[in-house]
Amino acid sequence: MTLLAVEGLSVRYGQLTALRDASLMLDEGETLFVTGPNGAGKSTLMKAIAGVVRPAAGCIRLGGRDITGEAPETIARLGFSMVPEGRQVFGELTVDENLRLGAGMRGDRAGAARDLESVFESFPMLKERRDGAAGLLSGGQQQMLVIARALMTRPRLVAIDEPSLGLAPLVIDQVYELLLRLRAERRLTLLVVEQSSTRATMTGGRMMLLRSGRVVLEGDARELNASGAVERAYFGYSDAEEPA
Ligand SMILES: Nc1ncnc2c1ncn2[C@@H]1O[C@H](COP(=O)(O)OP(=O)(O)O)[C@@H](O)[C@H]1O
Ligand SMILES: [Mg+2]
Repeated sequence: MTLLAVEGLSVRYGQLTALRDASLMLDEGETLFVTGPNGAGKSTLMKAIAGVVRPAAGCIRLGGRDITGEAPETIARLGFSMVPEGRQVFGELTVDENLRLGAGMRGDRAGAARDLESVFESFPMLKERRDGAAGLLSGGQQQMLVIARALMTRPRLVAIDEPSLGLAPLVIDQVYELLLRLRAERRLTLLVVEQSSTRATMTGGRMMLLRSGRVVLEGDARELNASGAVERAYFGYSDAEEPA
């Protein structure tokens, strides 16, 4: 079943068109990598789905419902959770408090407490440090904390913006190991934004490449990489206009 359908989405910041006529479909349980160089519009796409920025044109459907122009809280309540780039933890608050903020807009406390326990089951490392300041966690641990926080609303679809940014390769491996385990355990649908296609190729599955606000390539990550199409698209040659 289609969980997310984006059609002809455009986003403008003043004069600048950051995203132009972007479309994508995501089935329940599927993982889609959105890649592309810096400034391509990847974060803008995520923010538009989350309702944080308003599209100038196009339509977004989540679980069959039109969510175009809805408030972020409404979209979150419908099962979408976003992990923004930059690992925004509240450093002076404890791990526990950071997680409870993820459940912030939920009225029912008993439910939030159950979700906290369930998140701790998936993240024993966070449980051990639950009373410590989040600012004392390593970069990789903070990335896991923001992912855990996004799960506090029990989402169906999680979008993660550049989870590997600034992390050592070994730590990136751990973050992805965790993501893939969570995907299986919680039957999550994932939208993962990364600048490079390396992780998409390692993980396998569907990949989309954005460049200057346009979708220039979409398909099976491994096949696209092997054919050289990713490299060409990344550097701005379309398949139609091969470099001389
Ligand atoms: N709030 C904003 N105001 C104006 N321009 C922005 C804003 N956010 C992003 N942009 C611009 O929109 C384009 C796409 O940005 P972004 O979606 O952050 O790209 P990416 O995540 O792929 O690096 C860039 O040219 C960027 O400078
Ligand atoms: Mg970005």
